[in-house]
Amino acid sequence: MEDIVEVLARLGYTVAEGPEVELDRYNFEALNIPRDHPARDMQDTFYIGDDVLLRTHTSPVQIRVMEKQRPPVKVIAPGKVFRCDADVTHSPMFHQVEGLYVDRGVTFAHLKGTLETFVRELFGPEFKVRIRPSFFPFTEPSAEVDISSPFLAGGRWLEVLGAGMVDPAVFEAVNQARGNNDYDPEEWTGFAWGLGVERVAMLRCGIGDIRLFYENDLRFLRQF
Ligand code: PHE
Repeated sequence: MEDIVEVLARLGYTVAEGPEVELDRYNFEALNIPRDHPARDMQDTFYIGDDVLLRTHTSPVQIRVMEKQRPPVKVIAPGKVFRCDADVTHSPMFHQVEGLYVDRGVTFAHLKGTLETFVRELFGPEFKVRIRPSFFPFTEPSAEVDISSPFLAGGRWLEVLGAGMVDPAVFEAVNQARGNNDYDPEEWTGFAWGLGVERVAMLRCGIGDIRLFYENDLRFLRQF
């Protein structure tokens, strides 16, 4: 996480934070995911109450930052996220680093350039990057980025981040909360991404099972 933050700080991002116990409004509603939207099934949510939950991603920090400050915005939000999901590549608690860049004239080409620079800096030239079209309710168009490492069995691809151009509906939700039109989608565009930190570590260190990070097996931990 420190390495990730350092690379992005060099690209001009400053760090923002949000709560791990989050309101439905920030985790879903303002991100263009209404209550009955099928996209809610993509993320197995731990609910605490009707409107209170453990955040399933760091994307709610996008909304919290934009509600507080006028554009332009250039922030990253590292932190814990929670999903009711567990297998070799999924853990019920894991870490993400969110990125949000909003300015005049930001395009998908800037997103692609940023991600490619970032991956090169963090992983080095022996890793391969693949960008696939995807869908998220809060970005349009959206993409997923996979990385293949020479250290992982069979050079298999691991999805490390979701990204895309901020959907105008997200700016509208922010405008509504701010009671003005500061984030006029005709004037401002932006991109966002959410990166899985454990997966970055798995790729860099050749770790095949995400659960090893949280089992407290000293034989595993002592290697670091
Ligand atoms: N929040 C998404 C997830 O956790 C990732 C994402 C972030 C996608 C920002 C697009 C933009 O799956």
